[in-house]
Amino acid sequence: MKKKILVTGASGYLGGRLCHALVNRGYSVRAFVRRSSDVSTLPAAGDDFELFSGDVTDYPSLLAAFSGCHIVFHSAALVEPWLPDPSCFFTVNVEGLRNVIQAYKQTDMVEKIVYTSSFFALGPTDGGCVADENQVHHEKFFCTEYERSKVEADKIALQAGSDGVPIVPVYPGVIYGPGKITAGNVFARLIIERFNWRLPGYIGHGNDRYSFSHVDDVVEGHIAAMEGGQPGERYLLTGENASFNDVFDLAAIITKTNKPRFCIPMWVIEAYGWISVLFSRITGKLPLLSPPTVYVLKHQWAYSCEKAKRELGYNPRSLKAGLEEVLPWLKNSGLIKY
Ligand SMILES: NC(=O)c1ccc[n+]([C@@H]2O[C@H](COP(=O)([O-])OP(=O)(O)OC[C@H]3O[C@@H](n4cnc5c(N)ncnc54)[C@H](OP(=O)(O)O)[C@@H]3O)[C@@H](O)[C@H]2O)c1
Repeated sequence: MKKKILVTGASGYLGGRLCHALVNRGYSVRAFVRRSSDVSTLPAAGDDFELFSGDVTDYPSLLAAFSGCHIVFHSAALVEPWLPDPSCFFTVNVEGLRNVIQAYKQTDMVEKIVYTSSFFALGPTDGGCVADENQVHHEKFFCTEYERSKVEADKIALQAGSDGVPIVPVYPGVIYGPGKITAGNVFARLIIERFNWRLPGYIGHGNDRYSFSHVDDVVEGHIAAMEGGQPGERYLLTGENASFNDVFDLAAIITKTNKPRFCIPMWVIEAYGWISVLFSRITGKLPLLSPPTVYVLKHQWAYSCEKAKRELGYNPRSLKAGLEEVLPWLKNSGLIKY
């Protein structure tokens, strides 16, 4: 019998790519979306793909969606560095996961839950270290309320794992690559700013380090976690550790355009962030940059995915290979010119 898979966050950047990959592999997929979700980039509804309306904060809708499913990918989250009402992060990212675990307990068919956590749940790697799955967030400070909510949710996932719930938490790095330009697709949004000259220089001093994960590698990592991930075990689905300076330099080489000629001081970016937040409060439109984004940019976020490579066969591509794909994709989509 074909396995039926529920995907929350299906209308998102990662969830959408995951739905396509699962359908292509012959699974039957139920996409859990909100009534307001844009589902235009999802596979066409048919025998192997169905849309199911609900909200992770609405427990009955989630429970109903679990019915008949063997596997659950829980990818839904509020992925924003800043929101006017920070409590929303907890309602969706923490309580949403609690609801998923509760729904698992109330149904008897689900064999595994793959939960999309984030590198933020492990915390920064200041001091130049490269963290692995053993790092525990220090919780001395949080750059964003999103980070705090992912840390809280991580604890719930790990506790559920040790209580016998077959949950496999996976931790992508900064996700980039072709796909929907959502709030979660920060990478594409920054590249678009850069190529449209709204971001004319490097961001700050450039000593920042992030782990850049190509979206399709992350999708493969999720599927591998479904097939072979050990419940309760963490798996980092990260990629090459590099700075945004490296990204902008590589992008310039690939597109044969000029590299930025100067660094924008962090205080300027922070001031811009405060102004953006002020405008956001007036217009209701969420800002691309906010002070919490700047706090993130002031820390290091470098990780090793050796465990996922070893145990799941995870095979992330280099940043250069990923950029060689995403830049032409952004150009062909009319989002950047070079
Ligand atoms: N993007 C990254 O760089 C990154 C890095 C590490 C980890 N992650 C994790 O990866 C996952 C997916 O992120 P993403 O980048 O794909 O984000 P995204 O594009 O913003 O997608 C988020 C998804 O969650 C859904 N969602 C939000 N609130 C919901 C609710 N109350 N009920 C049901 N669905 C809800 C959204 O639905 P709507 O379409 O209706 O808004 C959307 O489908 C998240 O768990 C995130 O924490 C992302």
